[in-house]
Amino acid sequence: MTTRAQFVQGFLDFYNAPRYLEVGVNRGATFHALRAAQKVAVDPHFLFGAAKHQPGCSYHEVPSDAYFAALDRTAPPFDVIYLDGLHSFEQTLRDLMSAILHLQPLGVIVIDDVIPSGYLASLPDVALFERAWHAAGATGDISWMGDVFRLVFFIESFLPDFAYATLADNHGQLAMWRGRRRAPFTLDRRVEDITRLQYHDVLLQRSAFNLMGQAAIVAQAHSDLFG
Ligand SMILES: C[S@@+](CC[C@H](N)C(=O)[O-])C[C@H]1O[C@@H](n2cnc3c(N)ncnc32)[C@H](O)[C@@H]1O
Repeated sequence: MTTRAQFVQGFLDFYNAPRYLEVGVNRGATFHALRAAQKVAVDPHFLFGAAKHQPGCSYHEVPSDAYFAALDRTAPPFDVIYLDGLHSFEQTLRDLMSAILHLQPLGVIVIDDVIPSGYLASLPDVALFERAWHAAGATGDISWMGDVFRLVFFIESFLPDFAYATLADNHGQLAMWRGRRRAPFTLDRRVEDITRLQYHDVLLQRSAFNLMGQAAIVAQAHSDLFG
C-alpha cells in the first residue's frame, strides 16, 4: 500500500527546490517525512512540540481559514499543497479554493481521504460518527473520513480545467493539476445533487474517482505539466 508520504513525495520530486504546504498536520507523520526546500505546516493544534520543528519549515497553529486569510496574495505560490484538515465537504472545498489561488500554474494539489472506508466513516458529522461507532460496538481503527468524497464529484463537474486521479491502493488520495482530462467525465451535475450524495454513491459511481496506480498518476501529471 502506498503511504501518504510516498504519494506526495512523488509530486515534490518534479521540482528543483519545492515549496510545500500541508493543511492538517497532526503528529507530522507525513510532513516531517517529506523532502522539500520549504515546508509550511498548518493545523489548529499540532500534536508535537517545538523540539520536532525542522529547519526550512514554518509552523502555523491556526485553522486553515485563518492561515489563508492572513496569507499575502503576492506570496510565492506553492508547488505542492496537501489538504488533510477538517474532513467535511464544505471545509475541504473552501481549502481547495484557497489552495488553487496559492498554487503555481504547474503545481499539484493532493486531497486526502476521498474514499471512505464505510458508511459510518462517511458521515459528515464527526460527533454523530463517534456515537454511531460506539453504539454499533465497532472495534478496530476508529477513523472518521467525513464527506470529503463529495468533493471528487464537485471537481469532476465544476473544475474541468483540472485533470485528476485517485490512488487505487490506499484510503483514497486524489491528485489534481491543470491539464487535459482523458476519461469520459461528466459536467452534468447540480451542486445540490452533490450535497445529497451518500456512501453508496462512492460504490456505485466509482468511475468519477478515476482510480489509478501511483506510477500512472505521477506519469500523467508529469506529462501534462512538463510535456
Ligand atoms: C488526519 S489528521 C492529518 C494527518 C496528517 N496530514 C498526516 O498525514 O499525518 C487531520 C488534522 O486536521 C486538523 N484540522 C482540523 N480542523 C482543521 C482546520 N480547520 N484547519 C487545519 N487543520 C485542521 C486536525 O487538528 C488534525 O490534526
